[in-house]
Amino acid sequence: MNAVLPADPARDDVLAARPTLWLNPLYRRGAIETSDLPISPADVQRARMNWQRLAPLLAACFPELESTNGEIRSELVELKELREALGYRTREFGNVFIKADSHLPVAGSIKARGGLYEVFVFAESLARDNGLVTDGDDIRKLKTKEVQTFFSKYTVAVGSTGNLGLSVGIAARALGFKATVHMSSDAKAWKVERLRKLGVEVIQHEADYTIAVEKARDIADADPTIYFVDDEQSKHLFLGYSAAASELAEQLDERGITVDADNPLFLYLPCGIGGAPGGVAFGAKATFGDNVHAFFVEPVQSPCALVHMMSGSQQLVSVYDVGLTNKTEADGMAVARMSAFVATVMREILAGVFTVADDELLTLVRVAWTVQGQRLEPSAAAALLGPGFLVGHKEGKRFQDEQGIRGKMTKGTHVLWTTGGSHVPEEQFQAFLRQTATVT
Ligand SMILES: Cc1ncc(COP(=O)(O)O)c(C=O)c1O
Repeated sequence: MNAVLPADPARDDVLAARPTLWLNPLYRRGAIETSDLPISPADVQRARMNWQRLAPLLAACFPELESTNGEIRSELVELKELREALGYRTREFGNVFIKADSHLPVAGSIKARGGLYEVFVFAESLARDNGLVTDGDDIRKLKTKEVQTFFSKYTVAVGSTGNLGLSVGIAARALGFKATVHMSSDAKAWKVERLRKLGVEVIQHEADYTIAVEKARDIADADPTIYFVDDEQSKHLFLGYSAAASELAEQLDERGITVDADNPLFLYLPCGIGGAPGGVAFGAKATFGDNVHAFFVEPVQSPCALVHMMSGSQQLVSVYDVGLTNKTEADGMAVARMSAFVATVMREILAGVFTVADDELLTLVRVAWTVQGQRLEPSAAAALLGPGFLVGHKEGKRFQDEQGIRGKMTKGTHVLWTTGGSHVPEEQFQAFLRQTATVT
């Protein structure tokens, strides 16, 4: 069924599972203001306000958030030693940073932004609908025994390759809900174990992520006491991630880094179903306008956003449809079919997608650890190759020309969004390191 992919400079590489850079031909300036989208910059603003309102409750639920007054934030880390190791030492690479969501508190991955947000927003609206909190009440009322006893009659369910399940499970249990996580066959054993320890019911499917989500949705549809966090359709998840952009804007500002027409910003975002990278990219467009360019990163065997968006089809195209296997060590990105909601929103907003082979991912996990002490899981390490594609690949050069930024690259800023890893247990992490060849 290869016919679904049209002529494109990246087509042959994609079909042969060779790392490549695909540029989105529909990417255009001003799309966020002028397209008719199911979501708007005002929604991003509301999400920021929701995070702020919920912060005292988050601090009450998770002791590690006391020091940040309930804010879930990650550091912006300069790529120092790693810059050399990744071959980004010349001036044309401009500024290069890691946005270390690998070290986000509570869940240790970018999923802390989406999963926690959706569960906490749901909890607040359930409590409101049932007269348990009203305007002006202290939001920490949701942590009282009375409210938690009420919550315990409900189950929060989700389908996950691992990290979303962790963040939703942790959030749901912290508020007193029951929680069920439907895991795909790719899920790592340690993630299953950690959830079970938290009292989360884990159902392991001998199937891929799309099937795990479908099963979970069917069960939830038949039971009004189950709230289903729907990774394929959820606006809440998407908006939870989107608030990260204002955090990045503050951090760049603190460092005196300008983002404008002469100083472009590039984001490299690991993509599974598309919610996390899509949400961050959308928030970034709402914050930085046309001066930010967001690229997704996917494994060569699971480039679901790439194949669907390249196909131009109205119907979702999966990686199986073009003969790829969806087999990858990067469990967070082992998704065969992207979210239709994210595909619609990103149609003209996504700059492009680059792909990475598993052996490169594992080497990057090792290099990030040995050279700069960054503990990443393979999905997160994918982001590290972004600047190399943009600066060195022929399609990256075409992108610079088309955007009129070739002469501005020395003043550009690259943000490599490393999306998970700090909670990976030592034994699993050592296993990743053993899988790699020796560092070059
Ligand atoms: C570490 C990591 N990075 C990236 C992603 C991709 O997020 P999404 O599936 O929302 O595209 C995931 C998803 O679980 C993940 O665990």
